[in-house]
Amino acid sequence: MKITKILSSVLTIMICGYANAESTNSQVLVAYYSLTGKTENTAKAIANASGGTLYQIQVDKAYPDNKKERRKILEQEMEQNYLPPLKPTNINPENYDIIFLGSPVWGNHISQPIKSFLSLYNLSGKKVIPFVTHSGGGRGQSFNDVASLCTGCIVDMDGWSSWGSGVGKKLTKWTQQQIQDTK
Ligand SMILES: Cc1cc2nc3c(=O)[nH]c(=O)nc-3n(C[C@H](O)[C@H](O)[C@H](O)COP(=O)(O)O)c2cc1C
Repeated sequence: MKITKILSSVLTIMICGYANAESTNSQVLVAYYSLTGKTENTAKAIANASGGTLYQIQVDKAYPDNKKERRKILEQEMEQNYLPPLKPTNINPENYDIIFLGSPVWGNHISQPIKSFLSLYNLSGKKVIPFVTHSGGGRGQSFNDVASLCTGCIVDMDGWSSWGSGVGKKLTKWTQQQIQDTK
């Protein structure tokens, strides 16, 4: 009886250890910008499924909470292609090989903070997998934007695109497939 108990404990420790080793992947970064939380939900699900490090890209000067006021500022920034400065971070995206890059679709394009992100780092040679959320208009030009702004990157043009967060089994399967494809 005692031996069975000991063996069972050892087995549990071994299984947990294996599960932990499988649940983190130091090569993978899940970087995202999200204004209202939808892309953030998707990013968290991708981080869970991939074992990657979650990194929330934030603008240095937060946008106003008032929707009307905020929309005006965002439209101005989009029109002028203004790249908002980002909050400093300890994470260096250049240290990762696979980068899931998430954004809401703004005016059929990638969001301005993601453009800022891509202008800051040299991700040449990295696999960059875009994922976007939208409100019915689809991915628009967003994947093309990533491809043209990320010089030398290997951009996966079959990225993820969903109306709202779109989390679930399909997203988990898609994420795991992306990791498999890079092996
Ligand atoms: C300035 C702005 C522009 C937008 N443009 C589009 C668009 O072109 N097409 C679309 O389907 N949704 C558009 N949306 C809606 C967002 O893409 C959608 O709500 C997204 O899921 C929000 O993600 P978030 O919660 O991570 O910020 C826009 C939203 C904002 C604030």
